[in-house]
This record gives sequence, C-alpha cells and structure tokens, in this order.
Amino acid sequence: MNAIAAVSLDWGIGKDNDLLFHIGEDMKRFRALTTGGTVIMGRKTLDSMPGGKPLPRRRNIVLTRQEDFAREGVEVARSQEEVLRLTAGEDPEKVWVIGGGEIYRQLLPYCRLCWLTRVYARPESAVFFPDLDTLPQWQVLRSGAIVSDGTWDYQFIEYINQESK
Ligand SMILES: NC(=O)c1ccc[n+]([C@@H]2O[C@H](COP(=O)([O-])OP(=O)(O)OC[C@H]3O[C@@H](n4cnc5c(N)ncnc54)[C@H](OP(=O)(O)O)[C@@H]3O)[C@@H](O)[C@H]2O)c1
Repeated sequence: MNAIAAVSLDWGIGKDNDLLFHIGEDMKRFRALTTGGTVIMGRKTLDSMPGGKPLPRRRNIVLTRQEDFAREGVEVARSQEEVLRLTAGEDPEKVWVIGGGEIYRQLLPYCRLCWLTRVYARPESAVFFPDLDTLPQWQVLRSGAIVSDGTWDYQFIEYINQESK
C-alpha cells in the first residue's frame, strides 16, 4: 500500500478536524491517483469529509473501534490487522492510506511509497504526519519543482520505504 498526504513544513496535516490547505492541483492529483482503488482512513477523517460521506468511485475502508459504527458506502475495520485482511487480495499499488494522523502513524510501516505534497508554510496545526526526514528507512525517491497556486508554495515529493512490511 501507499500513503498520500499534504503536509506543512512542520509536518502538520490538520486542525479542528479539517485540512490546513485546499490546493486545487493537489486535490486533482489525489483524485487521479486514488480513483478506482481502495482508500483507508480513520473515522475522524471520514467525519471531516463533506456530509461525512465516503469518496466516490473508490472502495472506502474506515477504521473505528466503535462496535455499532455503520455508514453507507463504507467498509468498517476495527483493527490494523483487519485492514490488512480486507486488502490482502488487492493490488498493493492501488491501496491508499489517506489519513489522518493516527492512521498514518499505524500504517506507514506497511506503505512502500508516500506521495507527499509539501507545503512551504507553517500554519498552526493540531495533527501531524511522522517526520520522514528523521526516519532512516524513508528516502526521497522523486521531487518536483516548487510551484505556487497563488496562496501556497508547494512541491510534490515521493518517499520510498526501504523496509516496508
Ligand atoms: N493533510 C492531509 O493530507 C490529511 C489527510 C487526512 C486527514 N487529515 C486531517 O487529519 C485530521 C484527522 O486525523 P486524526 O489523527 O485526528 O484522526 P484519524 O486518524 O482520521 O481517525 C482516528 C480514529 O480512527 C479510529 N482508529 C484509530 N486507530 C484505530 C485502530 N487501530 N483500530 C480501529 N480504529 C482505529 C478511531 O476511531 P473511533 O474514535 O471511531 O474509534 C480514532 O478516533 C483532520 O484534521 C483531517 O483533516 C489531513
């Protein structure tokens, strides 16, 4: 599986159960990469989506510990092991860990690639992505130019995990 996230210079990813940035090209890339595949997210990230609805044209797996949790269009996983079971038959390149902080932390060891959008800003954040630059198994594989959408300067960077499970 792979992870995908937009992170600030401080590795911040969210505040008040919302994203820190809304960058059109980033959203477009997210859609292009994940559509047709499987997305794995925490219950809080699902709740942060418009209407608390799953993403269309993707298999949505949501992690929660709530026994009675059910939502239309969502498959529920109650542990990391259950996520691995539910995705065992899938093409790993089409399984995407899409957040949030708790889920990235738990599933990053299983990710081969991490598709980051690094935003060159430090907005106040309450939720963070692991700092990949301090984890020796993660190395930069490819990085694009720093570009701007008029509000944010950002860069697409892919990291590879040399020790993915
Ligand atoms: N920048 C980005 O790319 C990006 C992407 C996604 C999300 N975000 C942001 O991240 C924030 C949300 O992240 P978060 O860390 O607060 O929450 P989260 O990771 O989205 O969800 C946490 C929830 O997942 C469930 N969970 C976690 N580990 C589990 C396990 N091992 N087994 C079963 N269930 C488990 C629990 O749900 P229950 O409480 O229901 O038991 C837990 O409360 C928001 O601000 C969102 O906007 C940013």
